[in-house]
Amino acid sequence: MAKVVAFNCSPRKDGNTAILLKAALAELAAAGHETELLQLAGRPLRGCTACMACARNKDRKCAQPDDGLNGYVEKMAAADGIMIGSPTYFADMTSDAKALIDRAGYVGLQNGGLYRRKVGAAVVAVRRGGAVHVFDSINHFFTINQMVIPGASYWNFGVGRNIGEVSGDEEGMRTMKVLGENMAWLLTKLSA
Ligand SMILES: Cc1cc2nc3c(=O)[nH]c(=O)nc-3n(C[C@H](O)[C@H](O)[C@H](O)COP(=O)(O)O)c2cc1C
Repeated sequence: MAKVVAFNCSPRKDGNTAILLKAALAELAAAGHETELLQLAGRPLRGCTACMACARNKDRKCAQPDDGLNGYVEKMAAADGIMIGSPTYFADMTSDAKALIDRAGYVGLQNGGLYRRKVGAAVVAVRRGGAVHVFDSINHFFTINQMVIPGASYWNFGVGRNIGEVSGDEEGMRTMKVLGENMAWLLTKLSA
């Protein structure tokens, strides 16, 4: 059994990104994997300040005052699979998703590659345009960290504006199901 941690980087708790992540996680759980969804809403993350303390200290920590980031790093380091979900904001990821990626990414790289060979998946909610750019940007985090990325039947996004609307995007929801199935398959193979 593998462990998967998913981050919903929307400022809206239980919104469209959460719905998409939960659909993929349901398939992982059905295959016997342990899943956890962390929602960043209500606890914004600061961006990286380039203080380089993580490079000097090598203690797996970001030196900024505690805003939850170090807990997220440990969750990622302990997991076999990492999902990062973000809505599309001006054709890009949210500032919380970027802060998570920049800070957890730098801490990971400066500490011997904390996420190496874990399985990664990006999940994106979008009203109309920009989702592929968000998907690509999040995948940059996975690839520079030597992670492995499963595919799905489409790029991993679902269409909706108001909370819940994404559930009506039949193809988007099907994509999440296939993504969850493929991530579960890969994790099972890797842990064999
Ligand atoms: C500040 C802001 C910027 C947005 N920019 C875009 C955009 O560039 N393209 C788009 O299709 N939707 C855009 N949206 C809509 C959201 O991506 C969409 O409502 C999404 O479903 C929200 O997901 P959530 O419920 O998980 O927060 C934007 C919404 C906000 C609040």
